[in-house]
Amino acid sequence: MGSPRASAAASLDGIEGQKRAAAQAAAALVNDGDRVGLGTGSTVAYFLPALSARGLSLRCVATSLATERAARELGLAVEELDELGRLDIAIDGADQIDPRGWLVKGGGGAHTREKIVAASAARLVVIASAEKAVSSLGPPVPLEVLRFGAGTTLASLGEARLRDAPPSPDGNPIADYFGPVDDPPALAARLSSVPGVVEHGLFAPGLVSDILIAGPGGVEHRKLNRETP
Ligand code: 5RP
Repeated sequence: MGSPRASAAASLDGIEGQKRAAAQAAAALVNDGDRVGLGTGSTVAYFLPALSARGLSLRCVATSLATERAARELGLAVEELDELGRLDIAIDGADQIDPRGWLVKGGGGAHTREKIVAASAARLVVIASAEKAVSSLGPPVPLEVLRFGAGTTLASLGEARLRDAPPSPDGNPIADYFGPVDDPPALAARLSSVPGVVEHGLFAPGLVSDILIAGPGGVEHRKLNRETP
């Protein structure tokens, strides 16, 4: 039988162990009394029990029904964002993370709520396994689009198509943009300018305060200069 240190190291060789390690490190950043934004996805699914296990007094807002259900089952108090207003911290996963802190999010189709929650929080902590760290972002970039004229909206973008997946938490279709992503600020501005695009999955570094990436060697903690709104 290996030592606890050896088995902990071994568990970080796999993606699931890395997600769990990043999630546990993030749970340690939450303080008693915090108003907490809860993201969506399989990495956040590891974060929720780690947060619940701390036994803190918290008020939380969830970015999807799946997260809301899981959080409530774990005894976390979930309220509407408008009841909480400003949040102290939000924790969420990502699909891609570039060296500057640009993110692609929305693999689970919840990126609009996630962006609203991130913008409402004093601190956004991103949690991920090592394969999410990329040298440069690439397609697809998720889009939430209005159902009215969705085909026309996507046609105006060129390389975009509806995703064969459930709608967003607010009932809107989810699509993906497959064009180049080599200039994230320019692409973010272009996607934001298209009527019918409710929100895109590019998150600027100014939204992000901390990135916890777990790899075989442990959890790396990158701190960014969050633009406090
Ligand atoms: C959902 C998201 C998720 O945070 C992102 O897709 C990462 O998910 P996972 O932790 O399952 O890899 O943006 O809209």
